[in-house]
Amino acid sequence: MSKLMNYLTSSIGRKYLTGITGIGLVLFTIVHLLGNLNLFIGQDSFNLYTYKLESLGPLLEVAEIGLAICFLLHAIVGVSVYLNKKKARPIDYYVYNSAGGNSKQNFSSKSMMVTGSIILIFLVIHVATFKFGPSIEQGYVTNINGVDMRDLYRLVVEKFKQLPIVIVYTIVMILLGTHLRHGFWSAFQSLGLLNKKYRPFVYTLGILVAVMLSIGFLILPIWVYFFVEMGA
Ligand code: HEM
Repeated sequence: MSKLMNYLTSSIGRKYLTGITGIGLVLFTIVHLLGNLNLFIGQDSFNLYTYKLESLGPLLEVAEIGLAICFLLHAIVGVSVYLNKKKARPIDYYVYNSAGGNSKQNFSSKSMMVTGSIILIFLVIHVATFKFGPSIEQGYVTNINGVDMRDLYRLVVEKFKQLPIVIVYTIVMILLGTHLRHGFWSAFQSLGLLNKKYRPFVYTLGILVAVMLSIGFLILPIWVYFFVEMGA
């Protein structure tokens, strides 16, 4: 046990942890986006989807606890890897690169800390708004095929009908794309899964995943704001 702890807190162990948790979070984000696409189909489709998720009961709870642990570990270990790197190489990356380095350091990698922190703050507010927001008891209820269920669709539409919220979501989703663009490639690097042959492929795939997730998520509030009628 103490051997495992020693490994996990070593610099290589911490890189593995950020890599594995990062890939887990990307998978969650893809599944979350696919589920949210039900918004396009309509009120019943979206509410039925969230109702089915809730009906998983303890299974969902276990998944949520795993997800929360992933987010927390990823953030805490990510910060510690960053601080360690800074300690080991106090010269700013920009200066370091301009000395002729050929690394993939770019805007994304330098801003991982900033984008990561903003995404974490966004997540706390996001989960409080939707997961722990008004429910059946507060009147957010709909009846589908004789079953009463939470009207999350109404809550989402009410929120995305507010321009400041749409603007904040759009900005955060662009930052999410920036974070993923570097994070995706970097996770494979940290796990030692990149060699000369796969490197360009994984790098390009990372850009594709980042752009698709970012656009996929940011289109939702914009679409609701412009095209969905309140109460429809
Ligand atoms: C515009 C895009 C988004 C919409 C419409 C949306 C919608 C929702 C809704 C309705 C819930 C509550 C689900 C429920 O209680 O059953 C939720 C939960 C959640 N969302 Fe999002 N979301 C969006 C973007 C994101 C992004 C970009 C992330 C992560 C980077 C994210 C992470 C989460 C997490 C972690 C939860 C809690 C999941 C749980 O505990 O079951 N969401 N979202």
